[in-house]
Amino acid sequence: MARSIIMARLDRYVVIGNPVSHSLSPAIHARFAAQAGDSLEYSTLLVPLGHFEREAARFFAEGGAGANVTLPFKIDAFRFAQRASERARLAGAANFLAMRGGIVEADNTDGAGLVVDLERNLGVALAASTILLVGAGGAARGVVGPLLAARPARLVIANRTAERARELAEAFAALGPVEAATLQSIPETRYDLVVNATSTSTHGASLELPRQVLAAHAFAYDMAYGPAARAFVEHARSRGARACDGLGMLVEQAAESFRLWRGRAPETGPVLAELRARFA
Ligand code: ATR
Repeated sequence: MARSIIMARLDRYVVIGNPVSHSLSPAIHARFAAQAGDSLEYSTLLVPLGHFEREAARFFAEGGAGANVTLPFKIDAFRFAQRASERARLAGAANFLAMRGGIVEADNTDGAGLVVDLERNLGVALAASTILLVGAGGAARGVVGPLLAARPARLVIANRTAERARELAEAFAALGPVEAATLQSIPETRYDLVVNATSTSTHGASLELPRQVLAAHAFAYDMAYGPAARAFVEHARSRGARACDGLGMLVEQAAESFRLWRGRAPETGPVLAELRARFA
C-alpha cells in the first residue's frame, strides 16, 4: 500500500484571530471530535493585522479544510470567501469558512449560537418577546437576523452612537419589528431580554443601563464570557434580573460550525458544563 495513503493527514481546521492564544475553540472542537471518535486537527492561527487574506489563502492552498474566524477579522473573512450563506451576507461578516469543491464558502454561526443558547440551554422564549440589543458594532450585526427569525414582538437596538443603531435597524427592517435608539433614549417598556453586544466587557469598561431596562423580570445576557462579562452580569443581578455570560453562545456557535464541517451535530451540554466549571 502506498505510504502516502497510510500517512494521510487529518483534516485541518484553525481558528484565526489576533490575539488568538486565549481561544477556547481548539478545546471545544477536540471534545466534539472525541464524542464520535472523529479524528481532526484544530489549532489556533495568529494572523498579523492587515494580513488576513494572505494567511487565509495560504492555509487553504496548503489543504486546510475549514476555519473559524474571530476578532478582528470577521469582515475580512466574509470578503475573502468566494461564496457566502444568506446569514453571512446579512451580517456582512463571517466566523466560519469551509473549503468545498475548490471554493471557500463563508457562513456566520454566531447568531444561531446565541439563539440556541438562549432558547434551548437557558429556557428564554424569544417568540413574542421584547428584546433590547445594546450595541451596533460587528457583534450586534451578526445576531440581529437570527434574533428576528425567532419572531420577537419587538427588537430595540440601542447604541452610544445613534447613527450606527439607525443603520443597523434599517438594514434589517424587512426581516421584522426592529427599531433604533440611543443609550439615552431607550424606549421605556418591559424588556424580556437585554443582550449586551457592546465591546465594553472585552475592554473592561462598564455598561450602566437605565433602571427600568434591567428589572426583575428581565433576562440579561452578555455576549462576552468568563471574567470579562462579570461586571455586566453582576450589575444585572443587582437589579434582580437573571443573567448569564456568553459561554454557551461560544459553545453553540462552535457546534453549528462542527455540524456544517463534519455533518454531525455534537452534544454541547457536557462541553459547556466542563467549561463552566473551569470558570467557576
Ligand atoms: P464589535 O465587533 O465587538 O462589535 P465594534 O464594531 O467596534 O466591535 O463595536 C463596538 C460596540 O460597542 C459599538 O456598539 C460601540 O458603540 P459606538 O458605536 O457608539 O462606538 C460599543 N461601545 C464600545 N465602548 C462603549 C462604551 N464605553 N459605552 C457604550 N458602548 C460602547
